[in-house]
Amino acid sequence: MEHDTSPSGISRPVSAPVRNFQVGVVGAGVMGRGIAQVMAQAGSSVLLFDAAPQAAGRAVDAVRQAWERLAEKGRLDADDVAANLSRLTVVDTLAAMSQCDVIIEAIVERLDAKQSLFGELEKVVGAETILATNTSSLSVAAIAAACQHPGRVAGLHFFNPVPLMRIVEIIGGARTSAQTLQKLKALVGTTSHAGVEVQDTPGFLINHAGRGYTTEALRAVQEGVASFAEVDAIMREQVRFTGGGFRLGPFELLDLTGLDVSQPVMESIYRQFYDEPRFRPSVIGAQRAAAGLYGRKTGEGFYRYPAEAGGKAAAGGPPASGASAGSASAAAGQVPVPVFVVAEDHAPGLSDLVRRLGGRLAASAADTADGGFVLIAPLGDDASSYAAQRGLPAQRTVAIDTLFDPAQAGCRRRSLMPTVATDPAALQAAAALFAADGVAVSVLRDSTGFITQRIVAMIVSVGTEIAQQRIAKPADIDLAVRAGLGYPAGPLGMGDELGPRRILRILEAIHANTGDPRYRPGAWLRRRALLDLSLLVDD
Ligand SMILES: NC(=O)c1ccc[n+]([C@@H]2O[C@H](COP(=O)([O-])OP(=O)(O)OC[C@H]3O[C@@H](n4cnc5c(N)ncnc54)[C@H](O)[C@@H]3O)[C@@H](O)[C@H]2O)c1
Repeated sequence: MEHDTSPSGISRPVSAPVRNFQVGVVGAGVMGRGIAQVMAQAGSSVLLFDAAPQAAGRAVDAVRQAWERLAEKGRLDADDVAANLSRLTVVDTLAAMSQCDVIIEAIVERLDAKQSLFGELEKVVGAETILATNTSSLSVAAIAAACQHPGRVAGLHFFNPVPLMRIVEIIGGARTSAQTLQKLKALVGTTSHAGVEVQDTPGFLINHAGRGYTTEALRAVQEGVASFAEVDAIMREQVRFTGGGFRLGPFELLDLTGLDVSQPVMESIYRQFYDEPRFRPSVIGAQRAAAGLYGRKTGEGFYRYPAEAGGKAAAGGPPASGASAGSASAAAGQVPVPVFVVAEDHAPGLSDLVRRLGGRLAASAADTADGGFVLIAPLGDDASSYAAQRGLPAQRTVAIDTLFDPAQAGCRRRSLMPTVATDPAALQAAAALFAADGVAVSVLRDSTGFITQRIVAMIVSVGTEIAQQRIAKPADIDLAVRAGLGYPAGPLGMGDELGPRRILRILEAIHANTGDPRYRPGAWLRRRALLDLSLLVDD
């Protein structure tokens, strides 16, 4: 099917037959009612069923109220509300759905329940009816396995809240027919949502792509590199793509979702990929989940949310810009600090920044002995290894993260890290210098890849592996991640913007330094980086 691409990059089928569908929705909980709303708004006739008495009626009431609120805001007129409502009908038997083109289930997340429901539905529907599952963690193939006609079964994975999250994964299982996928694409094409075709693999596309951000952040904290709050501040304030930054730090995000949901997802995707090290969860998450520190829903997670504070993070919350735990407190002194800049090809502008902030460029490492420091800008290396390998004086060496240009206008935070031998005075001199223009400074412990390098490289690494495994088309990976996870760019676009070679270099260095296969770069990234190609190039 042909697609056109809107300015947001969302592809929509242009040759989809314009027709109304008869849609059944089974399960009228959080997801089912949202799916019913979106389908009725798109012009389909919707039959809604729930096993619990009154549940479907309550769902229709909730949807009507949502439409009425839209009407109050002038985004729907009264006729639309009435027309939408006329297309939404509660039914009290599955047999009432016999004429449906597509039935979407959004019942409890249990394989036996979904298999048994599809078994019941197969007894009452015709051969043409498609059975779609909104499962988020079960295999579509496993749900279809108990059906007489598994070719008619596919995944149609919506995100919560359905009316606002305008993306849906259309998932083909091992036995799903091409016609089934075509028909589901046509159905999604009638709605406000963009559909991306995805292979039936653990986490499908969006939940799979989301592994890099939080898992690597937990890993860095587990290594003692920085606190939760410092990592959040760095990811929110230091990361800048053309499309913006991350709205929430990884631990703020985990608190929002709840560790009761996120920790089992982390563990299940890891296990389902047969202990793939890239997805290895952290013991920190397991312990905090066991302690009931789920996040906002329990009043305490990585931050505290006292009811009297209106649900806002209390003490222990993220540091305000310019006031991080490790921030420099003093401005650069009167005497310019001597700085020997060991900048390589990836850190242009560092000498200019040092001068602009009031430092004096030293001619050699020896020239910094009097209150100065040696400034390095490693990619993927830790400061200690980098200094040792180049014969630099570790006591006076300080590293600065240059993945996002620390000299650019609008820079809100810079990250520094010492070697394990750096003299506190040298570190303090560096922290003071880099805060001299009012930009916040985070001081980390020595780390392979600071915070931004290791987290962003892991996001790109996971995204490129999704492309390599042909789970989805490259452009769809980026589209779905932007829409589904709210990232400022998709993983492939992030890699392109920062340079595939730099990402490759970061991963190779972390891999070499740690020996951990988690960081091994995959073929998709390596081949495109070495040939100077975009990560969006398919083959
Ligand atoms: N909540 C989310 O954020 C989210 C996101 C994506 C996918 N999902 C998936 O969507 C599905 C539904 O999730 P939810 O959050 O809407 O759950 P929910 O608990 O809010 O609603 C489930 C509804 O299904 C009904 N039900 C249960 N078994 C039934 C059966 N055999 N026949 C008919 N009705 C039955 C229940 O009475 C309930 O009203 C699950 O598979 C879940 O994994 C959830």
